Amino acid sequence: MDFRGAHIISVNQFERDDVEKVFAVANDMEPYARRERITKALEGAILGNMFFEPSTRTRVSFGCAFNLLGGHVRETTDVETSSISKGESLYDTARVISGYSDVIVMRHPQAGSVSEFAKASRVPVINGGDGPNEHPSQALLDLYTIKKELKSKKREIDGMHIAMVGDLKHGRTVHSLSQLLLLYKNIQFTLISPTELKMPADIVGKLQESGHTVLETDDMEAGLGDNDTVYLTRIQEERFTSKLEADIYRGQFRLNQAIYTRNCQPNTVIMHPLPRDSREDANELDNDLNQHPNLAIFRQTDNGVLVRMALFALILDVADKVEDSASTVGWYTESRFE
Ligand code: CP
Repeated sequence: MDFRGAHIISVNQFERDDVEKVFAVANDMEPYARRERITKALEGAILGNMFFEPSTRTRVSFGCAFNLLGGHVRETTDVETSSISKGESLYDTARVISGYSDVIVMRHPQAGSVSEFAKASRVPVINGGDGPNEHPSQALLDLYTIKKELKSKKREIDGMHIAMVGDLKHGRTVHSLSQLLLLYKNIQFTLISPTELKMPADIVGKLQESGHTVLETDDMEAGLGDNDTVYLTRIQEERFTSKLEADIYRGQFRLNQAIYTRNCQPNTVIMHPLPRDSREDANELDNDLNQHPNLAIFRQTDNGVLVRMALFALILDVADKVEDSASTVGWYTESRFE
């Protein structure tokens, strides 16, 4: 695909070469994300960072990524402070904000809303999550992380075994990641969820048609063995009609040190898109794994900055210009990256 000026709405718009291109540029961003070098590649450019649903990682890391490339960030962080609360349409909002910005990231609770917004926008739009539908930049950073983690264990994405656990019905991260993996070969998916929260049948069908193996189960401990990666998800409380309905499923599937040791391969990478629900009745990923070397959740969040920098650099066509204006940082920095 031609990244220059492109909207990033769905993982289905990528070919495998496109994903590899994002990853190659993400690798080049490391000295900037690690605060070893600074660049002015996007000096003067403005990101419209529009989040109409709660977010910590996606919103802040997109903003940091843009800042690290030298650009400025303007944020809208909820519907109440936007004129959408006065009845303004997505069309009008897109026309207006795209006059103020060079690129827009948008999160919205309705599936398809970011695509609708992009059609009216005069600048590229990146989907920061549209309801239960998709979260393409998360899928890219997840796959980037999987690739790095498996490489350190001398394994590859092709042929890997991955277990996805939790609310696979509403989880946009697993929808996007599994569809991005359509580009790879011979993957074994073990989909572990309550029956009512299974992965949508159309996604399972696509995985099977592409030659992947799909096993579906509600028996977590049986499903955990024989996997290179276990990808846990939170019960997506906000997608249920009531908290009481979500409560039925909360805490059914939990990974902790004892369950991991009993069921997983010693090399199994532990991932979660975060936020994990650390309340006692949920706790799908226990703090007792926080020091485990295979816990990749904070490497995922760090990698998110690299991947999001790469998307901005490619879309705004500065990937080859980042180094031109680069210099070393002028302040004291602690090394805090793995
Ligand atoms: N993974 C993710 O989308 O996190 P936030 O909701 O905090 O952005």
